Amino acid sequence: MEEYGRQVVPPGAYGRYQMDGLMKKNRGKQGKKNQWADHLTARAKADNYPARSVYKLMEMQKKFQVMKNGDRVLDLGCAPGSWLIYAGEIVGKKGRAVGIDLNNVEVGLPDSADAFVGDVFHMDDQLAAAVGSGYNAVLSDMAPATTGRKDIDAARSFELCRTALETGCRLLVPGGNFVCKIFQGSDFKAFESSVKSYFSRHKLFKPESCRKSSKEIYIIGIGKE
Ligand SMILES: C[S@@+](CC[C@H](N)C(=O)[O-])C[C@H]1O[C@@H](n2cnc3c(N)ncnc32)[C@H](O)[C@@H]1O
Repeated sequence: MEEYGRQVVPPGAYGRYQMDGLMKKNRGKQGKKNQWADHLTARAKADNYPARSVYKLMEMQKKFQVMKNGDRVLDLGCAPGSWLIYAGEIVGKKGRAVGIDLNNVEVGLPDSADAFVGDVFHMDDQLAAAVGSGYNAVLSDMAPATTGRKDIDAARSFELCRTALETGCRLLVPGGNFVCKIFQGSDFKAFESSVKSYFSRHKLFKPESCRKSSKEIYIIGIGKE
């Protein structure tokens, strides 16, 4: 079921039934993953989240309180949906969590969360109107489809970060927070300087739940100027 861009989830679909369906599809890939990844994937399944990436956001939330009950939160690159579910749980009934992704979110979402299919590089007027503005937090866990060419992948990742920051600067209220995944490549320092210039404080954070070998890190802007 799908209206323009907005995904419509059947009533009552938020819960284990949907999660079980999603996890079954992924079971064949399990053998290739390391034990730590397996542990977190199993934990995510038990906790009813479609991806283990949720634990990264949980760690950041615990340390920096980037969201609170009643907030409006925008999640860029929200599929398969773990961050969006968690953000919806944090903001509760009085808040709203909105996600955008190139791909459908196939799991049920809390009532406080909505997912839209779209490309952050090309948000048309209809999607922009549906998303609105006045956000207390903008999150980006976006990652490009990898090509295997490190220079190309790093450049694409940087473009996603730049667009996330530009979106954050446009849609965040003063005092709002920003969380963005970035790979530590040649553009990293320039991006950190940009975040520094728009927020009162900024922090770099590598969650415990990130693979140790990964070059990914999260940059957190606290208090949009
Ligand atoms: C690592 S996944 C996000 C996982 C998500 N945080 C979760 O917890 O379920 C990265 C996502 O970024 C999305 N993405 C990449 N480029 C995008 C773009 N131009 N616009 C919107 N989403 C994009 C991908 O489709 C992918 O679903």
